[in-house]
Amino acid sequence: MPARHDHARYERIEREVLAARPATSVPPGERQMKAAAAAALARHGIGGYAELGAGKFGVVVLVRARALRHLLQRPRLQMLHRAALQAAITADRKVVVKVQRAHGAYREMRSTARHEAAILSKLASEPGVREYLPAFFAAASEGDLYYIVMEQVVGTPLTHTRATDATWRRLERAVRALHAAGFVHADLHSDNVLVTPEGRVKLVDLGVATFASEAGRARNLRRVDDMRARHARTR
Ligand SMILES: Nc1ncnc2c1ncn2[C@@H]1O[C@H](COP(=O)(O)OP(=O)(O)OP(=O)(O)O)[C@@H](O)[C@H]1O
Ligand SMILES: [Mg+2]
Repeated sequence: MPARHDHARYERIEREVLAARPATSVPPGERQMKAAAAAALARHGIGGYAELGAGKFGVVVLVRARALRHLLQRPRLQMLHRAALQAAITADRKVVVKVQRAHGAYREMRSTARHEAAILSKLASEPGVREYLPAFFAAASEGDLYYIVMEQVVGTPLTHTRATDATWRRLERAVRALHAAGFVHADLHSDNVLVTPEGRVKLVDLGVATFASEAGRARNLRRVDDMRARHARTR
């Protein structure tokens, strides 16, 4: 966790990351999802958040941990690491909430979100791999919505990072650690890899992670090499 004196630095990095994202027009599915997520968060008294990501199926937002009090009183709370979450509330830290909606032809999204929460929850207590993932705090379901609450990884997506040899070595270590814990990240790309100001590497977006097969492991390690080559070309 960041030391108190680092907060101003982290706030600056956060502003830079948010500003670096390209302004694009919002497709209709995404607009609907954003409206549904905003309404759902407002129902729980959560507003004034920064958006970190948005797609047709979900949004990822940054909120103050203490703003989650209502959401966490829900009877449909499914997984909870109470001590970790309480520590974030006490320290008045921000946390990340991923809201996903299962609807129409995409009902399987619910199981994707649940799957991501289950993996983060399970791996939170696995020493070899948890340092490469955001800490898991809680998950809740509500109608067709599913919420995952996790630690804010203060860092920059690999896409916007000047990655060094050490960064690539750490990414390979992170990927191997996930494999050793039994999973393959099935959506490994440089937006789903965050690099902290200290140079640590964290993997996010484990919704479609699968059980580790020999072929899957080899494919993902090749993908790290591809990412590195592509990154070098675009610099
Ligand atoms: N725990 C976290 N801490 C900081 N930033 C995060 C965290 N989780 C996600 N993000 C940021 O939000 C972005 C979107 O999150 P994520 O990749 O999980 O969602 P998504 O790509 O919309 O999901 P999906 O691919 O399942 O539709 C990430 O690329 C990352 O920049
Ligand atoms: Mg992603």
